[in-house]
Amino acid sequence: MNALHCVVLAAGQGTRMKSALPKVLQPIGGQPMLAHVIDTARALLATTHVVYGHGGEQVQAFFAEQTQLHWAHQAEQKGTAHAVQQAMPQIPDDATVLILYGDVPLIRAATLQSLLAQVGGGLAVLTVQLSNPTGYGRIVRNAGRQVQGIVEEKDANAAQKAITEVNTGVMAASAQRLRAWLSRIGNANANGEFYLTDVVALAVADGVTVNTVSASSAEEVEGANDRIQLARLERAYQRREVENLMHQGVRMADPARVDIRGRVMAGRDVFLDVGCILEGEVTLGDNVHIGAYSMVRDSEIGADTQIEAHSILDRARVGKACQIGPFARLRPQAQIGDEAHVGNFVEIKKTTLGARSKANHLAYLGDGEVGSDVNIGAGTIFCNYDGANKHLTVIEDGAFIGSDSQLVAPVRVGRGATVGAGSTIAKDVPAGGLTICRAREQKTFANWQRPRKTPKA
Ligand code: UD1
Ligand code: CA
Repeated sequence: MNALHCVVLAAGQGTRMKSALPKVLQPIGGQPMLAHVIDTARALLATTHVVYGHGGEQVQAFFAEQTQLHWAHQAEQKGTAHAVQQAMPQIPDDATVLILYGDVPLIRAATLQSLLAQVGGGLAVLTVQLSNPTGYGRIVRNAGRQVQGIVEEKDANAAQKAITEVNTGVMAASAQRLRAWLSRIGNANANGEFYLTDVVALAVADGVTVNTVSASSAEEVEGANDRIQLARLERAYQRREVENLMHQGVRMADPARVDIRGRVMAGRDVFLDVGCILEGEVTLGDNVHIGAYSMVRDSEIGADTQIEAHSILDRARVGKACQIGPFARLRPQAQIGDEAHVGNFVEIKKTTLGARSKANHLAYLGDGEVGSDVNIGAGTIFCNYDGANKHLTVIEDGAFIGSDSQLVAPVRVGRGATVGAGSTIAKDVPAGGLTICRAREQKTFANWQRPRKTPKA
């Protein structure tokens, strides 16, 4: 097969978005629309050319790491044919060219493969049936159902306007023929634009049969020009994503109330309650349960772990059979060992918590190494920051930290040690024994009276 080159049109301004962000950078599932299209082109093993114009610097900056992308600048938007022409000098004659759109993000690789199978050295057009075709280019066929041309809304007569088969804009052609047709396209039409759609009539005039393929759904070929359309595509995308997850064995309390903004790998019998948001690269083992209104970003959660409601995990790794939350916050480099417990209002950052260790209530563990079978009492704080630098707190296996203790780092608590409640520990604690550091004596002032409010004058 010929080499495949995708040309992605992305030069439009998108004024209707009313945004400082160029249209093709508007997100679907947390990624710019254009990124979805580029991913799809990559899935087809295509060389990808992006035709950029408005907001070009911002667009190129976003994809700076994708060094294999080719860029073609369209300084002035003179129409879709003119846009494609900007990329043609970089495409060899023996290639097949596939035209895609930066603001049509849900196009599926399988649909494009069917389209490519119909090019046959000529031209193939992706069409769709719409009950309301207003605004789209209509597919004009002869009595033998052969495609004769595409007529744009503004140039269509009444009979043509009644046609419900429309041009999605996506087409594939032999590069050599496309180049020739593009050079013959003029702009004598209602918009004064160079219409890519005119290649169809030119192909027909050259005796080339134009094949069509039907899109599998209207949404896969829908573009987003304003925020209402963007939101509709977002919902369509989400439905597709949650259905993929359900096929992997994930159960959801309500698939309409889970949002996926990245790539999720899930084992069997995973359960997601309402309001869960999964972002970035997320891996969930078998039987992981995630409670309502939780957010998991770039994290890995081991089998049989329960994340209770309102928990936030960001670049964390959680072992098997752990209990996390409700209201837990695991920040980057939190590593939770198997069967550990992290309870409400516990924040953990850059800290390993060993197997079966527990921090069940109201604690901050930052820059720490906590061994296994450690119990961290309510209100414990790792004082990791001296105002300039961060320091390490080490708690060895089997230690017990009494409630409301502060561990002033750098500090180490030895194996099996007990720290008494309310201690401020600034020096290393030896293994075993009880270490306590708080006000020496407990006094009672029997006749003490609480201050009273002074009455207002
Ligand atoms: C185009 C098709 C129409 C089809 C419709 C499907 C043409 C002439 N018409 O119409 O048959 O039904 O798509 O949505 O092709 N762009 C550039 N540079 C330009 C012009 C456009 O990059 O100079 C980009 C736009 O940013 C946009 C896309 O191409 O993403 C389509 O352009 P637009 O002018 O919106 O075409 P439509 O009027 O939608
Ligand atoms: Ca237009």
